[in-house]
Amino acid sequence: MIPLIGYCDRLSGRPGDTIEFKVSSIAAASFTARLYRSISADPNPAGPGIIERAVPSAMDGSYPSRIQAFHPGSYGTADDDLPQTISGGFRLSAMIWPTLLRKPGMVTNGTQAILSCGDIALMIDGNGAIAGQAGGKQVTASEPLHLRAWYRVSLSYDADSGALTVSQEPITHGHEAHGTIIAPGLSLFGRPIIGAKKNVPGPRPGDIPAAIGAHFNGKIEGPTIHDSAGNLVAAWDFTQGIPTTKIVDTGPHGLHGQLINLPTRAMTGAAWNGDEMCFRHAPERYGAVHFHEDDIYDFHWETDFSFRIPDDLPSGAYLARIQCDGHEDAIPFFVCPPLGKPSAKLCVLVSTFTYVIYGNYARPGYHESWHQRVAEWDAYPWSPSVHPEYGCSTYNFHSDDSGICHASHKRPLFNVRPGFLTTGLGEDSGLRHFPADGHLLTWLDQQGIDYDIITDQELHDDGYAAIAPYKTLTTGSHPEYHTAQTLDAIEAYRDQGGNFMYLGGNGFYWRIALHAHETGALEIRRGEGGIRAWAAEPGEYFNAFDGAYGGMWRRNGRPPQSIAGLGFTAQGNFTASYYRRLPASIGADVAWIFEGVEDEVIGDFGLSGGGAAGFELDRADKRLGTPENAVIIARSENHDAETIMVPEEMLTHIMNRPLETTKELIRADMIYYQTPSGGQVFSTGSITYCGCLPWNGGDNNISKLTGNVLRRFLEE
Ligand SMILES: [Fe+2]
Repeated sequence: MIPLIGYCDRLSGRPGDTIEFKVSSIAAASFTARLYRSISADPNPAGPGIIERAVPSAMDGSYPSRIQAFHPGSYGTADDDLPQTISGGFRLSAMIWPTLLRKPGMVTNGTQAILSCGDIALMIDGNGAIAGQAGGKQVTASEPLHLRAWYRVSLSYDADSGALTVSQEPITHGHEAHGTIIAPGLSLFGRPIIGAKKNVPGPRPGDIPAAIGAHFNGKIEGPTIHDSAGNLVAAWDFTQGIPTTKIVDTGPHGLHGQLINLPTRAMTGAAWNGDEMCFRHAPERYGAVHFHEDDIYDFHWETDFSFRIPDDLPSGAYLARIQCDGHEDAIPFFVCPPLGKPSAKLCVLVSTFTYVIYGNYARPGYHESWHQRVAEWDAYPWSPSVHPEYGCSTYNFHSDDSGICHASHKRPLFNVRPGFLTTGLGEDSGLRHFPADGHLLTWLDQQGIDYDIITDQELHDDGYAAIAPYKTLTTGSHPEYHTAQTLDAIEAYRDQGGNFMYLGGNGFYWRIALHAHETGALEIRRGEGGIRAWAAEPGEYFNAFDGAYGGMWRRNGRPPQSIAGLGFTAQGNFTASYYRRLPASIGADVAWIFEGVEDEVIGDFGLSGGGAAGFELDRADKRLGTPENAVIIARSENHDAETIMVPEEMLTHIMNRPLETTKELIRADMIYYQTPSGGQVFSTGSITYCGCLPWNGGDNNISKLTGNVLRRFLEE
C-alpha cells in the first residue's frame, strides 16, 4: 500500500469552483496540505529543476490521516432484493464469452461469478469449468470451457429431488458439459449480482474488505432468473441504455440496476454476425457487457479537504502538496480564468484528456534500474508498473488481454505528477505529458510572458467561448486525444482570426468520448488503423458513451492536418534529432520567424530526447488538409534507424499512400501559414520540441524562434 497518496474530483476549475481532495494516509499523525504554483516539474539537475512557488491559501493546514480503500472489478447489481424467497426450485442462466480461465496470478483465484443471489452463484471454477455454488456445496461440469466461445450456461435446482445441475451448451462452437449433485432444501433470495458475488466479510483483521468479489472476466449477455415452473423472475436486457450505467430488467418485478466500475458496453453479443458494425443500428446484436476483474472508474474516497478557488488566484498549474511522516504527494490541478474574462493575451491549452487517457500507463519497457535515477534526482517515486493494482491506462491490457478502453482521473494518477519520469533511460529528462508540458510553462516564466490556462475539459464544455478572447492559443507537447467539441472549438478559433501554435507531435489523433453521466470517464476505441496500444475487436469500433465511430480522427474525416496543418507520420524511441532550416524560410513573409537565429541546424539539444524533433513526428500533407499556402520553414532529419512510418500510410511492402520513400516520410515539418480570416498558425510537429524551450536558461535557437512567433502573434 502506498503510504500517502491522493487525487481530486476535478482536474481544473474557475474562481468560485470548489475542488475536493481525497487522501489515503497510513500514518497515525495528521498530514499537512499546502498550495503551490507549479512552474517546472522536471527534476533533471541538468535543467531548471523543480520550481514551485508557495501560495498561502485556505487549503494550508493539517488533516487527520486515514486509510481509504479501493475495490477494482466491474459488476452489475440490481437495486433491490428479489421480492420474495424462491423455495420451490429455480434456474439461473446467461450467455457467456469467457476471456480468462485458470490464469496464474488471477486476482479472483480463479472463481468467477456469472450470476449470483445470496449464497447461490452460477460461476466458473478455478479449473475453468462451469460450476454452481450453493451454501457450502459446489457442483461442477465435467470439463472446462473454451476461451472466447459463446455458451449458454445455467444452474438449475429441482426442489423435489434436490438435484442441483449445472450445464453449458455451445452457441457457435465449443462443447456441452453437465454436472449434478444432490443438495436438499435450497432457496433463492437476496440481491441479484451479475459478474460477481458477495464476499464473505472480514478476511483479515485490519483489512477493509471488498463487499463484492469473484469478478467475472469476459462477456455476459441476457442473464435471467426463472422459478421452477419456468416463470420469469428477472431478465436483464443489456441492449437497453447502452450509453448509460443502468441495466434494465424486462421481467415482472422490474429489478433494474446499475453497472459498477464501468464494464464495457456496446460489445458484440452471441448473435452478432458482422452484418452490422454499429450498435445503434442493431442493438439486439450488442446485448453483451464485457466485465473485468480489474476495471476501475472512481475510487469513491471520502473528501479530506476542499478548496474553493479564490477570485484573485491567477490562472496556472497548481499543486496540493501533502506531507506526513516523511512521505509526500503532490496533486495537480489547473486554475482557469472566469469564462470570458481573460487575464492574459496567451492561452495555454493543457491536454488533460490526453493526461488521463495515459493515466497510470505501465510501460512495456519499464525496468527496475529506472529507480536509481528516481532516487538520484529525487523524482516521483511511484510507478504504475510497480503498482498496477491502482488501475492501468488505456495503453495497457486488462488481465484477460483485452485492451483497456476507459480512463478516469478519479483515482491517483502517478504519471500526472511533478517529477514523474516516463522513462529512466537516455541522457534526457525522460518526461511526458504533465511534467513535460512544464517545459513550456518554465519557458513562459523565463520569458516573462503572461498566460492563462484552459484545459480540454473547459474547451469541451464551453467550446469556442473558452478561447475566443485570446490573441494566441498554444498547445503543449502532446494534444493527442480530442472530442468533436474540442476540435470544433479550435477550428472556430483558428478560422475567426485567432493565432494558433501547435508545439507538439501526434496531436489531434484519436477520437474519445465523455460519459454523459459518469463525470471524468473517458472512452477510447482503438479501431482499425493507426499506431495502437491494442486493437478493438471487429464490430466494436463505436463508442458506447456517445455512439460515434471511435478510433482515429483521420478515419472520421478530420485528419490532424486539417486542424494544425500537420499530422502523425513517424514514431521512434524516446530519442530526438534536430530541424534544418529550409530555403523557403528566407521569403519575406516568413523570414521574421528566424530573426536573430543564425544557425541552419536548430534544436540539436534539449531536455526531451536531447533534441527538438523526436519520438513522434508530424508532417504536412495537402491531401490530408494542410492548407495550400502553408510554408514549410524547417524540416527534421537524421532520425535513428528504429523510427518507423505510421501504419496508416502503408499500402504495400513497396508503396505508401503519399508515394514518397519511407525515409522521406520520417520527418517533422515546421510550418507557418495565414488563414483567410487573418489568423496565423505555427506548428512544429514533434513531441520533444518543448523540451528545448527552457534549455540553457531559454538562451537557444528554438527559444529565440518560438519567441519571435509568439511575440508577433500576441501583438497582431
Ligand atoms: Fe500519444
